[in-house]
Amino acid sequence: MTGRPLEILEDLYFIERGYLCANHFALRSPAPVLIDTGYKASWGQTRSLLEELGIELSAVARIINTHTHCDHIGGNRAVQSLSGCRIALHPAGKGFMDARDARSPWWSYFHQEADFFDVTETLEDSASIHVGPHEFEVIHTPGHAADGLVLYNRRRRLLISSDTLWEHDIPVMTLRIEGERAVATMLASLDKISRLAVDQVYPGHGPSFRDFPTALRRAQARLGRYLKEPSRIGWDLVKKIAIYTLMMKARIPVDRFFDLLMQTPWYPETVVDYLEGDYHAVFDRLVSSLAERGLIHQERNHWVTTVKP
Ligand SMILES: [Fe+2]
Repeated sequence: MTGRPLEILEDLYFIERGYLCANHFALRSPAPVLIDTGYKASWGQTRSLLEELGIELSAVARIINTHTHCDHIGGNRAVQSLSGCRIALHPAGKGFMDARDARSPWWSYFHQEADFFDVTETLEDSASIHVGPHEFEVIHTPGHAADGLVLYNRRRRLLISSDTLWEHDIPVMTLRIEGERAVATMLASLDKISRLAVDQVYPGHGPSFRDFPTALRRAQARLGRYLKEPSRIGWDLVKKIAIYTLMMKARIPVDRFFDLLMQTPWYPETVVDYLEGDYHAVFDRLVSSLAERGLIHQERNHWVTTVKP
């Protein structure tokens, strides 16, 4: 799903994308600024959208990333090689990029496509950053991603919430990478942003929304259930990443899907950690549950997803 770019502050546009490719933002000015750059395989479309908006990519001055997950940094290397732009993100993410660590931002763990890039600036918690004339406060919100941050414009009570807060769902929690306490850490991050006065939220996925308190309560309740019943973490992860894998690949031969999942680190580990270790039984349950809900179906001996990328 790609909406028309929406001007949220003077010359700053919100570009809504989908599930595979995160939403992103662009400041149109002689020195353009991008906030996140989508997923690598979607870069062709991202580039067209930015150019249609009047952004000259070779003139981009700076990219700000909300974290280093593949669906938020996919255009970084292309833009940096065209423009030599600065790239700013949380120090933890700079550590991953400097060390060429493909696991901490989840890329190798989920077999995702992404390229390393040069981070030139770090954004610490409570720093302030200007996007053209607009001032944003940086709030570090780990839990989903160690380097996760949100950007808050106090003057207009506007929150760029990235994957810290969505309207109706919560993002995948990957405790093998983020640590055993990641759910509690995420709850603490939500608690931290709950003190902000917010009239409009621009999330990393899905349309913008106004009802910040309800979205917060919903996310807190979902995470609270994870604490009480950890197997839900594993089951949600398996379902979401199976769909994400189908989006990345577009289609997967029916007789190859299981093997493909078993070749990743995440599938066997998640089954062992949360789902009692029977790889085949979990796979059968996964596929029938997704098919029953109409989220996947077979086309000429291939699995495809109906979820819009
Ligand atoms: Fe993310």
